[in-house]
Amino acid sequence: MKGEILKTILITGGAGFIGVNAAKYFLEKGWRVIIVDDLSRKGSDVNLMWLLSECPPKDYPLRCVMLDIVDKGGYFLNKLMQDTQPDVILHAAAQVAVTSSVSSPMHDFKVNALGTLNVLEAARLSCKNPIFIFTSTNKVYGGMEQEIIDEYDNRYAFYDGELKLGIPETYPLDFHSPYGCSKGAADQYVRDYHRIYGLRTVVFRQSCIYGERQFGIVDQGWVAYLTARAMLDMPITIYGNGKQVRDILFMSDLCRAFYQAIEHIGKTAGQIYNIGGGPGNITSVVDFIRLLGKKLGKTIDYSFSDWRPGDQKIYISCIGKARNDLGWFPETDMGDGIDKMIHWTKDNLDLLRNNM
Ligand SMILES: NC(=O)c1ccc[n+]([C@@H]2O[C@H](COP(=O)([O-])OP(=O)(O)OC[C@H]3O[C@@H](n4cnc5c(N)ncnc54)[C@H](O)[C@@H]3O)[C@@H](O)[C@H]2O)c1
Repeated sequence: MKGEILKTILITGGAGFIGVNAAKYFLEKGWRVIIVDDLSRKGSDVNLMWLLSECPPKDYPLRCVMLDIVDKGGYFLNKLMQDTQPDVILHAAAQVAVTSSVSSPMHDFKVNALGTLNVLEAARLSCKNPIFIFTSTNKVYGGMEQEIIDEYDNRYAFYDGELKLGIPETYPLDFHSPYGCSKGAADQYVRDYHRIYGLRTVVFRQSCIYGERQFGIVDQGWVAYLTARAMLDMPITIYGNGKQVRDILFMSDLCRAFYQAIEHIGKTAGQIYNIGGGPGNITSVVDFIRLLGKKLGKTIDYSFSDWRPGDQKIYISCIGKARNDLGWFPETDMGDGIDKMIHWTKDNLDLLRNNM
């Protein structure tokens, strides 16, 4: 290591679920990591403490900066970027819940749209032309109501055979819900900063990501949330009829995708990728609960409530473009991923009880 120049990655939202896992991943690869977070998400303080104990700054090149990306028009963020000149920016800070975006659309817009513009501007004004990876969402495709959908006992399925391979990046955008609009606006800004300013941006439209260090709440992180509720014997409400289908991706696979996007930046700059578990890792909500019950050796009861705005009946990521350009595909099979999720949940039940 001596004499070697370290690469630096600055991770906004670096104390969140995705951020803290990515931070550990890059630290273990020998990178210098700068975390930016305002700790507004419940559980992020715990994640940060965990990272500091796993990778203490005396042994690892880790720096944590408490900072709101919206504050003072991004002044402090800009200053930090000028001082540190990261090679890569992973922008993961966000207001992440659809329901909160409906109750507080202005806050949602500020953090997700304006906040992203602040991070983009700070990146553009830094000297290194950093690589900029944005954690966008499948919600930019809206409810996809135009699709014909077959309904089975436990799940929906696309009628169109091609869509069974997943939704491609060329699928029409249709922002739905304030969260969909703010993330969608950010997604398009990030893409356009490549066209207009030549910034090396990459947009990941992520489906459902799950894994260790995820403090799921009722309106975000449903795999983690349901796992914890079931293990804590807490009541479970399903919004909609539970036949909604999603492809789910284990966190370590997402970290690898970030890395591969950086490694192949000649190809990935200016591109958008749908990133998820793909057709090989799909489940409906009720099927997931049944599988969870089987793994936990108990019957999990649940009740139903109204659908939530913009909720897709079925979403599967087409990961063909990512496979071609990044040489990436999910390695963690859904059953193994859920086992790991259960294991982590078991070890953290007290913490999770307080975060529900
Ligand atoms: N987890 C998923 O399944 C999923 C799916 C699609 C997209 N995403 C996107 O991935 C990103 C990370 O998601 P996550 O699941 O890790 O969420 P998370 O809530 O765990 O992490 C987000 C972090 O951002 C921080 N933050 C919020 N507002 C901030 C601000 N103004 N300034 C600085 N920090 C701020 C929070 O404290 C939190 O630590 C988000 O952009 C989210 O929209 C996540």
